[in-house]
Amino acid sequence: MPEAVLKVFRGDASGGEEKTYRVPIVEGMVVLDALHYIQAHYDGDLAVRWNCKAGKCGSCSTEINGRPRLACKTRVDAFGDQEIHVWPMRAFPLIKDLVTDVSANYRIARQIPAFAPADTNVPWTIQNEDMERVQEFRKCIECFLCQDVCHVLREHDGISQYHGPRFMVKIAALEMHPKDTLKRTAYLREKGGLGFCNITKCCQELCPEHIHITDNAIIPLKERVADDFYDPVRWALRKIKGQ
Ligand code: SF4
Ligand code: SF4
Ligand code: FES
Repeated sequence: MPEAVLKVFRGDASGGEEKTYRVPIVEGMVVLDALHYIQAHYDGDLAVRWNCKAGKCGSCSTEINGRPRLACKTRVDAFGDQEIHVWPMRAFPLIKDLVTDVSANYRIARQIPAFAPADTNVPWTIQNEDMERVQEFRKCIECFLCQDVCHVLREHDGISQYHGPRFMVKIAALEMHPKDTLKRTAYLREKGGLGFCNITKCCQELCPEHIHITDNAIIPLKERVADDFYDPVRWALRKIKGQ
């Protein structure tokens, strides 16, 4: 039976290294299956987070051969004869082996001004195209792979300066909802750190839900911020109103 060679990071916040495992390949095998084989046959204490094994819970995010991916959607045979290196997401603090602490994301989520609907006593009439635009953003499974790949979060002062692409998607879903009444451009410019994003599109390229993160969320949000803060007419009006 053909075998895959997996080099899996083992360790914790104090350090670690890759450990090599040989796993028999079965048809349709994904990297998460190979990690389960390792747990069952070699190291039962290998830590890996997963739930659905169907690409829907966003739990099994890892870095496979240097690219952030869902372990349950990454086929072992896609790598041919290459070794498969499996590492934890490096934008987040390591807990153990492949499991990282992603709780900073939930703290950010709680800060974002929530949906503020127009009068809820009146039945809403909404055009299909308006809902379709928002539906794209609502496909997010919170895998945080986009947060992991974002160089602003990796190289600068992380999430404290820029909320990251996942939260630009979340804010876009609120801002573009036809019945939302809040304006979040000041929040995006100041707390959200939207200006740090330089539209490299790395996040968009690897989103497992194929959300057009930069094209449909970040760029339109940047345009809204530019309209509100750098349009000279609006700037003058804000000054007059003392805002
Ligand atoms: S936007 Fe895409 S990559 Fe980012 S958390 Fe959501 S599903 Fe994952
Ligand atoms: S496009 Fe912006 S949010 Fe996406 S990875 Fe690049 S800098 Fe980060
Ligand atoms: S286990 Fe749920 S997305 Fe991979």
